[in-house]
Amino acid sequence: MKITLNGREESVESGPLTVAALLKLKGVPRPEAVSVELNGTILKHAEHATREVRDGDHVEFLYFMGGGAEPAFETRAVHAGFDQDRETGATSLPVHESAAFAQASAGAMEEVFAGRRYGHVYSRISNPTVEAFELRMNALEGGAGAVATASGMAAIAAAALCLAGPGDRILAARSLFGGTVLLFNDLRRGGVVVDYVDATDPAAVAAALDERTRMIFVETIGNPRLDVPDIGAIGKAAAARGVPLVVDGTLTTPWLFRAQSHGVSVVVHSATKYITGNGTAIGGVLVDLGSFDWTAGRFTLLAEAALRAGPAAFLVSARKRLVQNAGGCLSPFNAFLHNLGLETLALRMDRHCANALALARHLAGHPGVASVNYPGLDGNPFRAIAERQFGGRYGGMLTLRLGSRERAFAFIDRLKLAKCMTNLGDAKTLVLHPASTIFRDCSPEETAAAGVTEDLVRVSVGIEGIADLIGDFNQALAGAP
Ligand SMILES: Cc1ncc(COP(=O)(O)O)c(C=O)c1O
Repeated sequence: MKITLNGREESVESGPLTVAALLKLKGVPRPEAVSVELNGTILKHAEHATREVRDGDHVEFLYFMGGGAEPAFETRAVHAGFDQDRETGATSLPVHESAAFAQASAGAMEEVFAGRRYGHVYSRISNPTVEAFELRMNALEGGAGAVATASGMAAIAAAALCLAGPGDRILAARSLFGGTVLLFNDLRRGGVVVDYVDATDPAAVAAALDERTRMIFVETIGNPRLDVPDIGAIGKAAAARGVPLVVDGTLTTPWLFRAQSHGVSVVVHSATKYITGNGTAIGGVLVDLGSFDWTAGRFTLLAEAALRAGPAAFLVSARKRLVQNAGGCLSPFNAFLHNLGLETLALRMDRHCANALALARHLAGHPGVASVNYPGLDGNPFRAIAERQFGGRYGGMLTLRLGSRERAFAFIDRLKLAKCMTNLGDAKTLVLHPASTIFRDCSPEETAAAGVTEDLVRVSVGIEGIADLIGDFNQALAGAP
């Protein structure tokens, strides 16, 4: 057949064939990054496998850096949100260290302030570098929009403050990061009801929902209990009761966990962790997956924003209340570091997961370790759900029990390569004694709910050579009394 391909007549030695087959036949590199226009209509990416090209058709290939297709995750992580600076050609994201931005006139300033015209006026509200990070995170989650915040905690606070006021209820997973438990305690002082439930039991979550519940909050992998809720099942229960499901995806990142396919309404991340990947900057982000109808009327705190912003009501509220009014904005330089980290997220996460699995398996057979907790170990109760939910990977965190607080301290003190640090998701392996640090201000009940015992050591497995890590852990265990 004869077709016109990118403006030139071509003979194709076959009859009608699908667009995907044509891309293959023509040896088009990175077909996932190409949009195809067939007789004047840009096809959806999903149509490439089914739409046929026939004799006489006009076909144009358009690379998405100007096109508009849905490229692969790894491609979005490198190009989405910012591809190159139009004026200078710089492909490294410019850091706009400017507190404020000039507008041409008082009228133009008014228009931007009113949200009627695109632009930036003041970096406590928005900033071009921060916006590029928001766009990239949103592209990776496949969401409706994102708001970056000063930290992961600020992102969680934004979600909670926008959705639950005095008398409203938050239903949260019993095993949560200690900082989140402390934030929820603060909200209780302001009249918000916070109840905890075993999130690994979706039926219990469904049964615990009531008329006052304004948000369900769970972590993809509980930190540090490392339990894994079935988020799709919780998403279904949430949707049935019209309650938004907010998920903290810090430990999995969008590379392991696609919030969009599990009924999640809003995903929050501490960008401090794997997103940046080297412990250089504190930051956070919320992504609205676009699946929840915020205009339904139950969300009185959003009502004003909902009136003007419609489906974007949650994002507008988060930006106005937490970023603009409470001042929880992300610094442009941190946004630059987060954005840079995203470029290698997929590569790093796979290495974190592989190293964590190998280290967990080694330590599980070590006589000096009382027990190892890692969702990827045979016999772990969350292995099957983690495998299904995170695409055969289990994250980069594990915990060890060493018999006593003294042994845990002695072990940490003897490690040479692994650093004692209260962070995770760093390229470097980090260890921490949660009971004496993150959970210091939590009650004994809250600490127990998170699975934290005095002999527990949390390990954020880095991307070093696995033989070196195993060697370091072996020598520290051998020396610990
Ligand atoms: C699961 C989880 N969520 C949120 C946070 C808070 O993030 P940030 O330290 O960026 O405020 C952390 C920090 O360790 C975390 O582990």
